[in-house]
Amino acid sequence: MDNQSIPQIQTVGVIGCGLMGSGIVEVCARAGFQVVVSEVSQEALHAGLGRLRQSLDKGLARGKLGQAEHAEALDRVRGTTDFEDFAACDLVIEAVLENLDAKHQVFRRLDEICPWHCILASNTSSISITKIAAATDRPDKVIGAHFFNPVPVMPLLEIVRGLQTTDSTYQALRAFGERLDKRIVVAQKDNPGFIVNLLFVPYGLDAIRGLEQGVASMEDFDTAMKLGMNHPMGPFELMDFVGLDTMLFIADAMYEETKDPRYAAPPRLRQMVSAGMMGRKSGRGFYDYRKT
Ligand code: 3HC
Repeated sequence: MDNQSIPQIQTVGVIGCGLMGSGIVEVCARAGFQVVVSEVSQEALHAGLGRLRQSLDKGLARGKLGQAEHAEALDRVRGTTDFEDFAACDLVIEAVLENLDAKHQVFRRLDEICPWHCILASNTSSISITKIAAATDRPDKVIGAHFFNPVPVMPLLEIVRGLQTTDSTYQALRAFGERLDKRIVVAQKDNPGFIVNLLFVPYGLDAIRGLEQGVASMEDFDTAMKLGMNHPMGPFELMDFVGLDTMLFIADAMYEETKDPRYAAPPRLRQMVSAGMMGRKSGRGFYDYRKT
């Protein structure tokens, strides 16, 4: 396929400026794209842009970018609470919660507002791209662009093709991912969990089941995987880092699709989320972060 037929991406929209959305905004702005990012309210937008600045400041402090690059990245970002601002985008990446109805609402609005050439991508970690695309009149331009937390640090971009995603859409997103300096894997089957969460979700849920069965302490599970497998975080630290609500959303979406008991969320995970124990982002999950 020649370059001419691959849609060129200059302006990127990001829906949601949470843990993942703000990271996606950061890597796009640092790669030179103009970025429009939306949140549901001015307050949420302010918090999200604060998260973006904090991460850029951390990268600056750690020598990952210079002062000029830091300022230029911030200059490329525009925040909004109005979906109409996505009318100038060539690509929009949705990063809202892992709920199909919420994603359908977003994709229906984007399909009405975005120019016909605009690619609509989801950062979903588990929901079928084919199902998400069904809310639009452009399923050929709908694709999965799954980033990993923390987005400025994790080099992987997992691309997921829906049943009707065309080669030109895939090639355009691949070229975009390479401009972000990401290493790309491609999930060909649009299966629940794609590649990474097909492996990570049962791993995390099995750790919770092992804890409940008294196999070992939480700390020993984490130490075992860090020292025995050289993982940067053990399963409980990692689930707290990803967010227990996110873990539950993903597990439920995968179980809903497959009824495979490996993806059935243990009662303890659901209880913790109901109690507002979401992990690092709420101050408490499997570990207590309030005292540090
Ligand atoms: N910009 C650029 N670089 C940054 C940065 C930023 N905003 N923030 C941190 N870094 C760099 C630091 O400079 C450091 O690099 P260096 O060693 O070359 O200086 C490196 O990132 C590590 O940063 P820190 O030293 O601050 O932090 P740690 O060493 O404690 O590592 C961690 C933190 C990177 C989160 C590490 O613990 C880790 O990799 N954990 C596993 C994370 C993981 O598995 N993520 C995937 C979760 S699954 C997911 O997201 C999918 C979803 O669907 C569930």
